[in-house]
Amino acid sequence: MGALSDLQPILDRIGAEMAEAPDRGRVADYIPELAHVSDRQFAMAVCLPDGQCLTSGAADTGFSIQSISKVFTLAIALGRLGDQLWTRVGREPSGLSFNSVVQLETENGIPRNPFINAGALVVTDAILTGRTPREVLGEVLRFLREAASDDDIHINKAVAASEQAHGHRNLALAHFMAAHGNLVNPPALTCGTYFHQCAIEMTARQLAMAGRFLMGAPGAARLVSPARVRRINALMLTCGHYDGSGEFAYRVGLPGKSGVGGGILAIAPGRASIAVWSPGLNEQGNSQLGTLAIERLARATGWSVF
Ligand code: DON
Repeated sequence: MGALSDLQPILDRIGAEMAEAPDRGRVADYIPELAHVSDRQFAMAVCLPDGQCLTSGAADTGFSIQSISKVFTLAIALGRLGDQLWTRVGREPSGLSFNSVVQLETENGIPRNPFINAGALVVTDAILTGRTPREVLGEVLRFLREAASDDDIHINKAVAASEQAHGHRNLALAHFMAAHGNLVNPPALTCGTYFHQCAIEMTARQLAMAGRFLMGAPGAARLVSPARVRRINALMLTCGHYDGSGEFAYRVGLPGKSGVGGGILAIAPGRASIAVWSPGLNEQGNSQLGTLAIERLARATGWSVF
């Protein structure tokens, strides 16, 4: 790409294209509180190493970050436990849906990776050990607020309660892992903490700002070391979109992490932290238009890592 001044027209064009897109995917309804969100919405924010943040669409409208929170809890857990975390969770793509239980049965209750639900529950369980849910959620919010340089980041209690009331599948995963000795805290406590971390609400602008440490922005090593950032990006590329990770890598060519709220955080190492939001999801539970928008951005800028 040429000068950075070329970037805003690209974002404007993608925003206009997404407003017209006929196939917007399906809004998640297994967490009833998420089903109220309109599929017409779209936002994109791109933060650059020099501190500029460009946007298009509803970049200041809050949405539920859901599984994108797993990137931040992983960073916190690696900071607290280091490589010891990898005795409890693997680093391989699962090739199955985000909430699948089947591999736990044959793999001793060790989840394939920290981004599927089972793996994220282990990560949350690890940072919860010896502390209260309030302390852990306080740490997650502090991390996000510092990373985003924005204190206005909160948990949506109605979304957390809605997931809690319908969280049978996550409770099943947690109980299954407890049966294998891979959960330290009571399943209800770990799940309750996890539901609240998923219910954190952020805008696309805040999310792109919070992702700057993953692109290696100046000063980012203060939050997470460069060696760890490289590894988190590797996991985002291989596992960040569940059984859609190969497709995302093929189409977009960037590490990314999706959430069922319709958000995606994608990282162009050394170049940009990108957040998109559009609530309609594809078959794998990843934002339909979010993926398309980042694909077009990566093509227009040449930001693919390949
Ligand atoms: O545990 C769940 O099912 C949700 N709180 C998060 C799942 C999610 O975001 C999957 N992502 N696409």
